[in-house]
Amino acid sequence: MRRGVFLGVALAATLLAMPAARADDALTPEAGRKAYTGFCARCHGLNLVVSGGGAFDLRRFPADDKARFLHSVNKGLRAMPAWEGIAKPVQIEAIWRYIGSVNGWPPEAMAGAENTAGSSQAQ
Ligand code: HEC
Repeated sequence: MRRGVFLGVALAATLLAMPAARADDALTPEAGRKAYTGFCARCHGLNLVVSGGGAFDLRRFPADDKARFLHSVNKGLRAMPAWEGIAKPVQIEAIWRYIGSVNGWPPEAMAGAENTAGSSQAQ
């Protein structure tokens, strides 16, 4: 009986921990905001607001050019490092949606071409 209770508690703890682990990989604006804050904000500014420096103002990025976004972010562009292999594809996807949510893009702009970079990597 005690053992059953212990297993039940362990199972409940595992189940409670799971959504938290998955949330980081989710395609929500909140997951995107976290990934953006961790990877991008030091150059592109908190909430996309650049405070000088040479980084691109992401509030001006065209909503209809996701392919360019994916290419520049995965491969890097001049002073910007390549993020392929550093940020997970799902995080880059979530960052795109986060940028769209800050910029007030229509929902159809947030979807579009999938990020296929790194899809051959072992996850
Ligand atoms: C080390 C500073 C730095 C970091 C960190 C950084 N960037 Fe950049 N980013 C730049 C600079 C500088 C440019 C302008 C490049 C140019 O046009 O010369 C740029 C340009 C861009 C552009 C415009 C590309 C284009 O096609 O014109 C996008 C989109 C972008 N960054 C997204 C991101 C995302 C998303 C992240 C986080 C995963 C990120 N950046 C992290 C420095 C950075």
